[in-house]
Amino acid sequence: MNKELFSAVDRYVEELFVPIEESLQATLRASEAAGLPTINVAPSQGKLLHILALLCGARRILEVGTLGGYSAIWLGRALPFDGKLITLEYSSAHAEVARANIDRAGLADRVEVRVGRALDLLPQIEAEQVGPFDMIFIDADKQPYTEYFQCALRLSRPGTLIVADNVVRNGAVLDTNSSDAQVLGVQRFNAALSAEPRVAATIVQLVGLKGYDGMAIAVVRS
Ligand code: SAH
Ligand code: DHB
Ligand code: MG
Repeated sequence: MNKELFSAVDRYVEELFVPIEESLQATLRASEAAGLPTINVAPSQGKLLHILALLCGARRILEVGTLGGYSAIWLGRALPFDGKLITLEYSSAHAEVARANIDRAGLADRVEVRVGRALDLLPQIEAEQVGPFDMIFIDADKQPYTEYFQCALRLSRPGTLIVADNVVRNGAVLDTNSSDAQVLGVQRFNAALSAEPRVAATIVQLVGLKGYDGMAIAVVRS
């Protein structure tokens, strides 16, 4: 693996396609200053999420795993004025940082951060009937990815785009003897996704500033 080369190309992509934008940069600075782990998507990947949301004409987006709101801001920026993003975060400390970042980005009217365990919050969202969502981004703890995906399907309509981050884990998904709970969670999710007749799905490998990983991309069939 040529990590330096892949990171340099990621920066090249960033310079070309991710204009310097104060509120996104301030989001990363504030997240780091607050001691959040730097596991946000890379800028080039944020732009990819933004493009995917635009492609779906998304008016309602659901995110599982907010952290400091970096990906939420990229997704929120793709929404029309009356659009809505609900993002779920277990840590109230992370959520507080995210709300300040989202506010600074001028998206407080469209982006709602809900605090709690995603497995508790998702059934509430289902009961509220705020769905179906046009796009769902899964990026929280890895063990329950399969359950998040099952919830996502219940909150979808034909055409909904479901994206899940971190499904390659530096290639660790190939290790059939892995005892890493996160790897096992992702392996179980990838198998469930591949066996799910209600979606057309694949995995895109990603390299660059965030190392070697990948995103699963699925569209709910009509
Ligand atoms: N999407 C973010 C990164 C999310 S990191 C970005 O790219 O900017 C994963 C987040 O999921 C962390 O903030 C973590 O606190 C949160 N998380 C972990 N377990 C969770 C759970 N059970 N329910 C909701 N959020 C959870
Ligand atoms: C981890 C989580 C993420 O969502 C990510 O993008 C990278 C790493 C982690 O928990 O290690
Ligand atoms: Mg991730």
